[in-house]
Amino acid sequence: MSFGMRLGLAMAIASLALLIGCGHDDSGGTIADAATERGFYFGVALADATSADAQTVVPAHFNSISAENAMKWGELANTVGNYDFRRADAFVELAQRSGVRLRGHALLWRDQTPSDLAAQIDAASDPEARMREVVEEHFRTVLTRYRGQVETWDVVNEPLELFGNDVDANIFYRTLGPGYIAEVFRLAHELDPEARLCLNEALLTYVEDNARTDALVALVQGLVEEGVPLHVVGLQGHFTSLNAAPQRARIEALLHRFTELGVDVELTELDISVRYFSGPTPFDEQAVAYADVTSACLAVDGCRSITVWGVRDDESWLDTYSLFRGRAPHTPLLFDAALAPKPAYTAVRDALRVRR
Ligand code: G3I
Repeated sequence: MSFGMRLGLAMAIASLALLIGCGHDDSGGTIADAATERGFYFGVALADATSADAQTVVPAHFNSISAENAMKWGELANTVGNYDFRRADAFVELAQRSGVRLRGHALLWRDQTPSDLAAQIDAASDPEARMREVVEEHFRTVLTRYRGQVETWDVVNEPLELFGNDVDANIFYRTLGPGYIAEVFRLAHELDPEARLCLNEALLTYVEDNARTDALVALVQGLVEEGVPLHVVGLQGHFTSLNAAPQRARIEALLHRFTELGVDVELTELDISVRYFSGPTPFDEQAVAYADVTSACLAVDGCRSITVWGVRDDESWLDTYSLFRGRAPHTPLLFDAALAPKPAYTAVRDALRVRR
């Protein structure tokens, strides 16, 4: 059989595989290959850096990793000041061993804080002073330990109200005042001047012209104009099926609203529920949506990274989170429950290989 005939046969088999939804055409390399070739990070959030899944997909399929939970304050220290770094250290070791980038998620978030934080602040004679003391201790402890190992830190996660558009009056806001965001970004930069510092937010619908986008743009613009060392805006990218499905042109316009402020952007927690798609081949429709989101990021200078929020479909947070579990299974990721790449995997890989 001539080379041409073998090539034609391989392409026919690959096309057939895609047509019958067998998912990944592995003749075209991996997402990690395609991303690295163009100087882009395409990453994955891992529950456990020592798991078999983690070893299987990193670095073979992804060139960046995030800890889904292990590097959050409350997961590092169940009570204030009492750290157990073993799970987080495993992420640093995996990143070093694999030669992949490590995103730090997340230094300050109203959720998953040490179990006694609120009580300690309530009991303090000077709550503001006590909060400043424990936050500074946390930042110093973590940023010193991982200095030079974490390329980008989510310094503040979800500063906006979950269902409103104001800056959330969370425990940090209430005790340290509205300037807490600027304060902790400056502290992070002082403790690790090389780390890129990210403000990470969960928009609910990823379009350029709604009130929540306007609120985040205003917040970021204020911080930038104040000279705060804010390098990246993280847009999480949870497409949960309760809001609008991904729309490439509107995502591009959205990303531009932030890069125009002089900051980079990243899609930091991407997942796309298959519940959006009701046609005969929903996983192919999901693949198109993933390709659209990937292409939207690649089209915008300053959009430097996408991270999917989990490895395999059956472990997605969407299927257990109160707001979305009623529509489970969302099967929102790039690998199925058997750890087989889905059509979305191939679509992302192929989108990464398109040159502008
Ligand atoms: O570790 C405990 C375990 O000991 C206990 O037995 C078990 C049952 O209660 O809970 C385990 O903790 C869970 C933790 O994930 C680790 O699995 C928490 O209950 C659970 O609430 C937590 O959920 C995480 C959630 O953040 C917390 O709000 C999800 O896995 C994680 O995917 C999700 O990720 C967030 C990002 O950090 C920020 N953006 C939104 C995104 C989705 O909420």
